[in-house]
Amino acid sequence: MNKVIEERTKRTEWYRDARFGMFIHWGLYAIPARGEWVRSVEQIPHEEYCPLTEEFTAENYNPREWARLAKKAGMKYAVLTAKHHDGFCLFDTKLTDYNSMNAACHKDLVKEFLEAFRAEGIKVGLYFSIIDWRHPDFPHYGDMHHPMRNHPECSNENRNFDRYLDFMFGQIKELLTNYGKLDLMWFDFSYGDMKCDKWKAQELISMVRSIQPWLIIDNRLEGSAEDSGSILTANPTEYSGDFASPEQMIPPAGIRNELGDPVPWEACLTLNNNWGYASSDHHYKSAEMVIHMLVECVSKGGNLLLNVGPDAKGRIPKESVKILEEVGEWMDENSKSIYGCGYAGIDKPEWGRYTRNGSKIYAHVMEAQAGAIPLTGIHGKIKRLRRISDNSEVRLTNYWNLKEYSQNQFFFLNADTCDSYPLPDPRDTVVEVTLEENEN
Ligand code: GLC
Repeated sequence: MNKVIEERTKRTEWYRDARFGMFIHWGLYAIPARGEWVRSVEQIPHEEYCPLTEEFTAENYNPREWARLAKKAGMKYAVLTAKHHDGFCLFDTKLTDYNSMNAACHKDLVKEFLEAFRAEGIKVGLYFSIIDWRHPDFPHYGDMHHPMRNHPECSNENRNFDRYLDFMFGQIKELLTNYGKLDLMWFDFSYGDMKCDKWKAQELISMVRSIQPWLIIDNRLEGSAEDSGSILTANPTEYSGDFASPEQMIPPAGIRNELGDPVPWEACLTLNNNWGYASSDHHYKSAEMVIHMLVECVSKGGNLLLNVGPDAKGRIPKESVKILEEVGEWMDENSKSIYGCGYAGIDKPEWGRYTRNGSKIYAHVMEAQAGAIPLTGIHGKIKRLRRISDNSEVRLTNYWNLKEYSQNQFFFLNADTCDSYPLPDPRDTVVEVTLEENEN
């Protein structure tokens, strides 16, 4: 096997088992409360935006509460925006004053986040924007996204991109050396010719690996909206990333490389329609929808990184808390069909999805069915069927009056009435299928 792929496989073992993580987008943009791109979308100059630091109190910031919520929801890792595109740092950096130590909160928010999540046994990651709209040496005029892109007076003549890279490397080094063991770094993002060598990606990955060799990274030093980079090839670069990062979508058939081998991936999705706090966005997904998204990712061999956007006081919106608590209730009973699970190698059934962990196949019934439910695609001899929420027996049956269907085995979800309606758990009722030995 190719060495980069081999090492990637080893490094991502915990990550592929974990399956469910929390993304946290938090920064000054929580005050305008129109999403984290507000500076770019509304072309706000730094001088106008920067004073928000004076109001960024984070007075209700209690990362232990966030961590407990993540744990309750069944999330195994969390990724916080240490710095987003606006350049404001949530950590104590010596390389710019534009950081949370000098904001109204006067705190190293990253440090507290890491301590709190580690204390709950949750793996920790940091999102770091390789784009920086505050740094004077980052291209302004004519850049694709910079807030000052339409201002010829912000021309790039005296900007020195190497100086920017020194700053970027320096900040990443601070994060990797001052905060103990990190599990993940989420670099964001590449576009146009702003990718790979432009970021000195090879040098960067060498630095990352020399400080924290186990750390896993996403694919965005190379991958962009235009393509995923060499992670999908048979010969990925060292900085191609440990996982692919499809955004706001779940890939139709999971992600495989050109050899047809599965590639670790993580779909990142928002709970409403924004990453950063957006006060008027109440388009929240239901807990049921989130459960279905999670199961879908796992059934295709991927992870779900689900976002919350705390407000400027540091509170995760109530709607998000409620949804995550309900997801947690479901996870309490059913997480066995999520952790350590992946592709079942069976076509998607009509009534839901299959996930699998070795010889255990999990039938996720999401659509109520009248009568018996066919275990399509499972041909081995079945030893037993159990509902995993309460380990109750699920009865197997054969279809008695239509011979053509007898190649399938069937089950009833309501054992005493010999039917399957209504679903015991309308969100997703999970049945564990154990095959006879030698049938896997
Ligand atoms: C994007 C956006 C961004 C968000 C992120 C999450 O590339 O620029 O605001 O942080 O992806 O995946």
